[in-house]
Amino acid sequence: MIISCPHCRKRYNIPEDVLQKISEKAVFACPACKGSIHLSMTVQAAAAPPPAPAPASSAAQSPSEGATLKDRLTQALNSLPAMPQALEQARGLMADNRMRPADMVKILEQDPSVAAPFLRLASMSLYGDTQSISSIQQAVGTLGMKTLNEFITLACAAQVLGRELKGYGLQAGDLFKHSLAAAYCSRALAARKSPDLAEEAFSAGLFHDCGKLILDSFVEERREAFSAFVYEQKKSFLDAEREILGFDHPQVAADVCVKWRIPKRQVVAIALHHTPSRFVHNELAAVIHAADATSMMSGIGSGLDGLLYSVDEKAMEFLNLEGDCIGVLMADAAGYVKRVMACF
Ligand SMILES: [Fe+2]
Repeated sequence: MIISCPHCRKRYNIPEDVLQKISEKAVFACPACKGSIHLSMTVQAAAAPPPAPAPASSAAQSPSEGATLKDRLTQALNSLPAMPQALEQARGLMADNRMRPADMVKILEQDPSVAAPFLRLASMSLYGDTQSISSIQQAVGTLGMKTLNEFITLACAAQVLGRELKGYGLQAGDLFKHSLAAAYCSRALAARKSPDLAEEAFSAGLFHDCGKLILDSFVEERREAFSAFVYEQKKSFLDAEREILGFDHPQVAADVCVKWRIPKRQVVAIALHHTPSRFVHNELAAVIHAADATSMMSGIGSGLDGLLYSVDEKAMEFLNLEGDCIGVLMADAAGYVKRVMACF
């Protein structure tokens, strides 16, 4: 199906399999001008079967390779770098109403790789540059609790999400930028629907794609099969993971998040973020899904398959979203990513 951007008039060919996933309405971001492109479908995609998790093509693994893959997956999970301890310790402290700023300072000062970006983020937030604050004590004493949590989370996340992912075609920093945009959008979407979920949504949005850290080497080993699937058949990396590997990055992300001691409610939402049929009753999952798709469509740190993602129509309805909201969100997220990246 050929669609035309109503803003810049650029034309795109949307593959049939993508159209089948759209229930009635969807909104895409034009890769050229970033304006919103609305699609209305008359065919109900709900009648279409969900993507099969089991392999179905010659590119997929044999059962024996599947067993080996699972073993290797477990090994990769075990060798994944740990989340900096500062995050868990700081969160534990913040959950305690009697938190003493001196204790927080001590936690941050223990890890210079967290303390340095934390200081720059604090400085940027308070003074608009990255050098006006020189002590952790000053930053902790000045920032509010929510901002403190956000900056510590970002400083820790950058360490684990910042690396290059060759298999996914992502340069160093790309996954972190995409995750930042998704975190920003998650918080904004949650704030509209359920303000109490906003901070949790930010954290879940930030770590939602961490499964790609594990799957990257598996994807790279099967570069040809993935390239054919994604670039020739115009399907998403997610579909390629399911078809070629037999499992997908949200499943693996859930395992990574358990290892990193991310709270359970966030783990469940992350595991479901690409499974619209299962998140009808999970507000956080719907939020993460919409935020991820918005971030993908905006092209921030996403691969070439960004246009192939869309916000599920049921999620749009559930979150009371109009297409215009998505366009505004994309622009705001881009500004947020730019400000944060100046601190790393
Ligand atoms: Fe994802």
